[in-house]
Amino acid sequence: MPSDLPDTTSPSRVDWLGAINPQMHAVAESGIVEVFNYGRNRQGLIPLWVGEGDLTTPDFIADAARLSLAKGETFYTYQRGIPELRETIARYMTRVYGAAPGGGAHQAERFFVTIGGMHALQIAMRIVAGPGDEIVVPSPAWPNFDGAVALAGARTVNVPMISGERWSLDIERLAAAITPATRAIIVNSPGNPTGFTATRAELVAILDLARRHGLWIVADEIYGRLVYQGERAPSFHDVMDPDDRILFLQTLSKNWAMTGWRIGWLEAPAELGPTIENAIQYTTSGVPVFIQRAAIAAIEEGEPFLADQLARIRQSRDILCSGLAATGRVRFAQPEAAFYLFCSVDGEEDTRTLAKRLVDEAGLGVAPGSAFGAGGEGYIRLCFARSPEQIAEATRRFSAWLAR
Ligand SMILES: Cc1ncc(COP(=O)(O)O)c(C=O)c1O
Repeated sequence: MPSDLPDTTSPSRVDWLGAINPQMHAVAESGIVEVFNYGRNRQGLIPLWVGEGDLTTPDFIADAARLSLAKGETFYTYQRGIPELRETIARYMTRVYGAAPGGGAHQAERFFVTIGGMHALQIAMRIVAGPGDEIVVPSPAWPNFDGAVALAGARTVNVPMISGERWSLDIERLAAAITPATRAIIVNSPGNPTGFTATRAELVAILDLARRHGLWIVADEIYGRLVYQGERAPSFHDVMDPDDRILFLQTLSKNWAMTGWRIGWLEAPAELGPTIENAIQYTTSGVPVFIQRAAIAAIEEGEPFLADQLARIRQSRDILCSGLAATGRVRFAQPEAAFYLFCSVDGEEDTRTLAKRLVDEAGLGVAPGSAFGAGGEGYIRLCFARSPEQIAEATRRFSAWLAR
């Protein structure tokens, strides 16, 4: 290196972390990633740690993207999403969720296409929170809520849910967590990692609370179609008025095996359109058109795939739940929705260590409950969106490890 240039190769000479925006230090490493990094590339390991299935995206969806590329749809596009997709989403919402709040069909103006549910969450947080604000999050909860809150400069206040026959929310406890700094409650139903599915009465109680305190609700209903009874889970759409302050997150990721495509949407009052458009412009500048074409195919033609996928996941859930219940050492509430089993193991308190031992000794990749905030300690999460054969093998390995 020429001697007149500064030596930038020595890490000790610059305090890089001290040189950046301190807000970034508040963003913790995901505990799921820690175990994933520990066990990645282990031969023969069955990965149940990440929230996605083992099916690749169906051809009819990928073909729509291919066709779009072949037609040369490779240019910048609408920040809010192409009109055809926003119309498709509005029709889908009317078909699955019924009339829009206030009556009539859902309107395309309320839907904003994003880079997955994660980007929708990021924008929602930017809209409702800033430095010094608090966001109430019932937990155990998906760690990315806390990450998005921290990136907005705000603080997460976890309110542990109650475990039992089913996971449930203690509304009194939720109310007690609200302070003058609270801006929003994030409600993830059906929930990751617990499978908690709010009843209509619970949704009404949360909405009442939010109304009384003038709070936003950020409703993450991305697992709303992955339910084991009925067509969909209860939704805030069923109980809200048009004037309620609710932002909805949605994604194509789980219903249509599209986690790697990165497409979802944010539903918000149409009046926030220009604000959301700016948020998209200055973060991602929109979602590629060919991916939006694939999303249209998924939403319009994807019901049979969704039904088949759900039947397969249900079979895997039943194998895992009955197998682990038979060990007599694993405790859990049977998941009512989504594709996670959140369970504790008698005699195993430190589940970060347990997760690593399961990698080494059983060839199983699971997520430690401590990654999911207050109330998650002592649990592990297993994603069962895999083939019934593989889940049967995972169940056998886990049971044998417990019996060793
Ligand atoms: C509760 C919850 N919300 C949102 C998402 C976001 O998914 P994506 O960014 O793939 O759309 C996930 C993904 O695991 C999730 O579990």
